[in-house]
Amino acid sequence: MLYVEILGNMPEMAGDEVKAMLELSCGKVIGRDYLLLRVEAPRKSFPYLDRLGLAHEYGELLVEADSVEELLEKAKDVEWPIAGTFKVDTETMANCRHNVLDLPRKLGAVIHAQGFRVNLSKPDTVVRAYCGERLYAGIRLHYFDPKDFERRKAHHRPFFRPISLHPRISRAMVNLTKARKELLDPMMGAGGILIEAGLLGLRVYGVDIKPEMVEGARRNLLHYGVRDFVLRLGDATRLGELFPGKKFEAVATDPPYGTAASLAGRKREELYRRVLESIYEVLEEGGRLAIAFPASFDGVSEAERVGFRFVSKYYQRVHKSLDRYFYVFEK
Ligand SMILES: C[S@@+](CC[C@H](N)C(=O)[O-])C[C@H]1O[C@@H](n2cnc3c(N)ncnc32)[C@H](O)[C@@H]1O
Repeated sequence: MLYVEILGNMPEMAGDEVKAMLELSCGKVIGRDYLLLRVEAPRKSFPYLDRLGLAHEYGELLVEADSVEELLEKAKDVEWPIAGTFKVDTETMANCRHNVLDLPRKLGAVIHAQGFRVNLSKPDTVVRAYCGERLYAGIRLHYFDPKDFERRKAHHRPFFRPISLHPRISRAMVNLTKARKELLDPMMGAGGILIEAGLLGLRVYGVDIKPEMVEGARRNLLHYGVRDFVLRLGDATRLGELFPGKKFEAVATDPPYGTAASLAGRKREELYRRVLESIYEVLEEGGRLAIAFPASFDGVSEAERVGFRFVSKYYQRVHKSLDRYFYVFEK
């Protein structure tokens, strides 16, 4: 059994991102306690879980209990798969119902009694204990270092535009499409979504109506080591003409929200409708689209009108004058 600890700011989107990765690799979520997902998955799921954007870490779940005493009792019977030294790190989630102040010390003592040495500053193995409705303990297998994502935030890229999504969100959008081999962003801007997809080994295709964006996205992709890309200057409402005969496995995009300049002179709602139609035309049967729209635009009805099947949507308040939904649709 595995656990995945997801991030707390968009928990529904984060949970569905995990499900999407498990669906690609014969795994499934079998339970949830606030930010902790209990997961059944084979080893081949690990590379898919490694793709996650909205997760804190995942690991092997070894003990579950309804009280601290029960957790400690059960921990005695576990053969802790610890390599070298260890430390116990406790996560007290917002829904924690137990007194876990002493848990790290007591659980550490149980594991120490099996002959393992503690090293609080540089442990080889991190034992994680979680407190929610219930209590859990396990071994951390993968930690998603926030610095990796921070390094790719808009202002660290050689070509900077302040219009970019956070890299973790871009990554989650890519994953929600369940792409395995390729992804198109027809309004790529500085290429934030394409960078995340490219780093997963997907072949990426990008379009923007502005020449400086096409050149800037190219610089950004190269800067992060993404080489397998095709970029085109053109209009997202005419994708069929830009890629004759091509059908895409997956599409993810973040259309412009506001200013006349970013909309290239078009009316916003009209642009969104035509982009949806154009994406539908070039998407494979069964392929998925992840797309963001301001909350004032009814993305579900508009996409259904074009022929898409609604999969999910997630709300995000960006600032006082912008709130949006991220949608997932399927053809
Ligand atoms: C919000 S930005 C995308 C940001 C991008 N996700 C990133 O991470 O940098 C939207 C982009 O859509 C482009 N755009 C606007 N109208 C377009 C159209 N009709 N066809 C293609 N691109 C268009 C704009 O030039 C802008 O770069």
